[in-house]
Amino acid sequence: MKGIVFTEFLELVEDKFGLEMVDNIINASNLDSGGVYTAVGTYSFSEMLQLLEHLSANTGISIDDLLLVYSEHFFSVLKDSYPGLLETYKDPIEMISSIENHIHVEVRKIYPDAELPTFEVVEKTENSLIVIYRSSRAMHHFGLGLMNKTFEHFNSTATIVLEKLKEDGTEVKFLINKD
Ligand code: HEM
Repeated sequence: MKGIVFTEFLELVEDKFGLEMVDNIINASNLDSGGVYTAVGTYSFSEMLQLLEHLSANTGISIDDLLLVYSEHFFSVLKDSYPGLLETYKDPIEMISSIENHIHVEVRKIYPDAELPTFEVVEKTENSLIVIYRSSRAMHHFGLGLMNKTFEHFNSTATIVLEKLKEDGTEVKFLINKD
């Protein structure tokens, strides 16, 4: 997992819960990095999972809800860091259906070692989209937050329903309907 995901995460934790919480969750985790991250480095996903688990235990907020809030913050980071990628699109459904064949393809050129999910487009109309998310990281709520923000970016909203195809969340169907 790329360092930028960790640095932005810890910054948000500090903003919302304070520096003491950052220290707490780092100290409670068993981290090869020692909790020191650089934006361009690459770290094991298990480090993110431990940080999330300890933050969840300390705050009583579920990991899914933490990922949802975090991804909404991460969207602005992506928007500021890669403005060109977003400018290609005029419509949220077009953009979300292009993650697999365009957006994440470009991301892989920048970070060859990025750990990205796959999104299979099952059905697409002008106002609706069905995609299947697959990733061993089961970060479907991170995807949900990015999708919500994508609609907001185009001054639009959508109703998005998640249907777990695998209990562990590694395969999830997203049913997206523009409001
Ligand atoms: C992960 C870039 C849009 C879904 C990532 C990561 C980067 C990235 C850098 C981290 C990879 C790693 O840690 O190794 C971008 C950029 C985007 C974009 C530059 C647009 C400009 C989206 C959108 C979605 C999405 C709109 C919504 C469906 C995800 C998910 C992950 C991820 C779910 C977490 C990894 C996983 O589930 O396996 N993306 N992304 N991305 N991205 Fe994107």
